[in-house]
Amino acid sequence: MTKKLRSQSWFGRTGRDGFIYRSWVKNRGVPHDQFDGRPVIGICNTFSELTPCNSHFRTLAEHVKMGVLDAGGFPLEFPVMSLGETLLRPTAMMFRNLASMDVEESIRANPIDGVVLLFGCDKTTPALLMGAASCDLPAIGVSGGPMLSGRFRGGELGSGTGVWQMSEEVRAGRMSEADFFEAESCMHRSHGHCMTMGTASTMACMVEALGIGLPGNAAIPAVDARRNVLARMAGRRAVALVRDDVAMSRILTRAAFENAIRALAAIGGSTNAVIHLLALAGRIGVPLELADFDRIGAGLPCLVDLQPSGTHLMEDFHHAGGLPAVLRELGRAGALHADALTVNGQTIWENVKDAPCWNRAVIRAFDRPFKPAAGIAVLRGNLAPDGAVIKPSAATPSLLVHRGRAVVFEDIEDFHRRIDDEALDVDETCVMVLKNCGPKGYPGMAECGNMPLPPKVLRKGITDMVRVSDARMSGTAYGTVVLHCAPEAAAGGPLAVVRDGDVIELDVAARRLHLAVSDAELARRRAGWAGPPRHPGRGYYKLYVDHVLQAHQGADLDFLVGGSGAAVPKDNH
Ligand code: FES
Repeated sequence: MTKKLRSQSWFGRTGRDGFIYRSWVKNRGVPHDQFDGRPVIGICNTFSELTPCNSHFRTLAEHVKMGVLDAGGFPLEFPVMSLGETLLRPTAMMFRNLASMDVEESIRANPIDGVVLLFGCDKTTPALLMGAASCDLPAIGVSGGPMLSGRFRGGELGSGTGVWQMSEEVRAGRMSEADFFEAESCMHRSHGHCMTMGTASTMACMVEALGIGLPGNAAIPAVDARRNVLARMAGRRAVALVRDDVAMSRILTRAAFENAIRALAAIGGSTNAVIHLLALAGRIGVPLELADFDRIGAGLPCLVDLQPSGTHLMEDFHHAGGLPAVLRELGRAGALHADALTVNGQTIWENVKDAPCWNRAVIRAFDRPFKPAAGIAVLRGNLAPDGAVIKPSAATPSLLVHRGRAVVFEDIEDFHRRIDDEALDVDETCVMVLKNCGPKGYPGMAECGNMPLPPKVLRKGITDMVRVSDARMSGTAYGTVVLHCAPEAAAGGPLAVVRDGDVIELDVAARRLHLAVSDAELARRRAGWAGPPRHPGRGYYKLYVDHVLQAHQGADLDFLVGGSGAAVPKDNH
């Protein structure tokens, strides 16, 4: 290591400034030799009791610290804004970019040479990766790990997925409220994040597939001792990455993103990953666009039988071999950039080429997949000129080509007001349309695209209908749900002028989403469009609504795209 560490611009100083920079840090008993030029590793912690999925992160951070000390580094833990998916309103997504600013500025402003990012719940992962990418120091991600499998009355109960299923059962009158309450205590039995292949698990897989996390990062349960070992190893590796001067941009290359897109298809991962990967690529300067997800991933099979697309849970995935077993299948099929570098110093293929699979019911072979051609499909048409997405692996095959009458909800309040009304003119052949739930419209792009079905349809035993919106969908949800229509309604996209009774045509194989209304009529309607909904005119809300990009651009704030590097800011005295 010949390069002068940035931390020495603080701790390596003499005189008054050096005294100030070191003396306050010593107040908790730090020996003087910790300031001798060894790598300072920041441990970026999203612990919060308001983020239940990350509530074990104090312990996890201690294991990272031990690893940093093992390798001769100096660990310094710091908190950043945490984002709890279930509690934050209007939606955690609105704060992803704010948290990323916190991460970026915290890293750049402090005497940090490398960073370990502790994330778990959905938005914490992209927020930390994005913020760190804009600094481009050596970095390594450590996911908190999934919860143990939910158990309810002799069966497995998956995070989120079980809620959507059971709440429809309650609305159809087939499950009692008392049973529903009981299930509440059975679903989440341990520390960790959602244990379905929802957004958190998907993003943990993306971390591993991108090579920015260690092998095993995605699936080791949060409460398994090996999760703590992984955290400790990450601490050790962070020191090595600083010594070897391996910045994030050496890992997060175009090849790494292509590997992640392929892994996303192979795990049947969350549609949210599309937005997060686009935003992350924008921060690190890798050209990536929505069409790449279709071009690179759509033809690939889903190899993993996990909820919400399948039946098993993350604990089963771990015991079956986890993501290394999936990546090995991709590699053997020629669907992996084998030489992409990862944070353990090896290529991704070196990491996974001998990875075993212990349970073919959970992780299938490439030539005997769980579902064929299951990658996220990007739809185009006059209803989404800049694109929309659908996850075919979570959809009903018979609905992937469909023509139906639109039943339109102007916003989520309108939906809640009318969906249970027996007088609502809807049947299972209709296409439910939801407006004003995109980045600007909600604001924050809520996870409400998988609209619950009308009770009178549910009572017929129908479990799926085509739904179209500018919203997102929880990674734990399922159905024939077209999401992320861009431009969104609140930005004046065509969705804004869809009316009850219009005919919508969906053809996933042809990648087509079409509103059967003439251009002249659409232009006439657009001329009479009332404009976007009004939102509070101050603070972060205003900043967000004024600057958020559309879904196909990653929904980052326009002025956050790219990075400012890690140059040492000027002195504060
Ligand atoms: Fe945190 Fe699902 S609510 S991961």
